[in-house]
Amino acid sequence: MEHTANHLAALNFYIDGGVDEVIGSKPVDRFAESKAVPAEAARTSVMAPAGPPVSSQPSSQSSSRPSGQAQTEAEASARTLAAGASDLATLREVMMGFDLCPLKKTAANTVFGAGNPAARVMLIGEAPGADEDRQGKPFVGVSGQLLDRMLASIGLDRSSVYITNMLAWRPPGNRKPTLEETTMCLPFIRRHIELVAPKILVFVGGTSATTLLERRDGITRMRGRWFEYPSNGDQPMTIAAMPIFHPAYLLRNPSLKRQAWIDLLAIKARLQVMA
Ligand code: URA
Repeated sequence: MEHTANHLAALNFYIDGGVDEVIGSKPVDRFAESKAVPAEAARTSVMAPAGPPVSSQPSSQSSSRPSGQAQTEAEASARTLAAGASDLATLREVMMGFDLCPLKKTAANTVFGAGNPAARVMLIGEAPGADEDRQGKPFVGVSGQLLDRMLASIGLDRSSVYITNMLAWRPPGNRKPTLEETTMCLPFIRRHIELVAPKILVFVGGTSATTLLERRDGITRMRGRWFEYPSNGDQPMTIAAMPIFHPAYLLRNPSLKRQAWIDLLAIKARLQVMA
C-alpha cells in the first residue's frame, strides 16, 4: 500500500513538473548514466583538440557550445533547407529530417499542417499540444474543437482553410516556446506561408502574431486589426493578416468570445469582398 502511494506521489511530482508524456517503452536509468559522465567527460576533453571543428558536431552536442553559436548554426541550416524546398511535400520532408531543434527530440511527431493547401485562408497557431503531438495533426485537441466551431460560425471548415503552427514540435509539458526555438524555426514557417500563398492569414494567438509581424504588442491590442504580412517568395507579395484570440485562451476566458466573434465576422466580410 505504501509502495503504491509512493509511486503515485512520484507520478504526481512528474505531472506537476510538466512531464505528462511517456516517450519511451523502456525505462532509462538516469542515475547510472550520470555516474558514467565523469569518465566520459574526461575522455572527451582529452580528445577534443584533435576532434572535428565544433560547428560540424551533431546537434546532440550543441549544448556544450555557447548558445548563440548553436542558435546561429541551427537557424542558418533551417534557412538553407527551407529556401531549397520548392513544394510543401519537400518542406515537410526537410523538416522531418531537421535535428537541430531540441524540441524534436522529445516530440513524438513532426506536426506539419492540415486542411486544404489551396485554401484562401491559412491559420497559424503556436505549437502542437499533447493530442496534436500524438496524432501528428494541428489543432485536434480541445482547443482545436473550439477552433472548428469558430470556423463553422463563418461558414469555414477544414476543407476551406489550411492550418499549421509556428513550431512543428511540441514543447514538453505544453510550455511556451522559447525565443530561441521560435527564431530557429522561423525560416520553416515563412517558407510554409510562401508555398501556400493564401489570400488571408489568421494568426491564432499572440505567438504567431508577434513573431511573424515582428511586433511587440500583446494579442489584446493586435486582435481584430488587419496587418500586411510581407511574403518574400518567388513572387513577393503582401498578405492581409489578422491576429485572433487563441481558442485555448477563449476556453479560459469565455467572456472574450464576443470579441473573437467580431474578428471572425471581419474575416468573413473580407473573404466576401475578395470573392
Ligand atoms: N495550440 C496550438 O497553438 N496549436 C495546436 O496545434 C494545438 C494547440
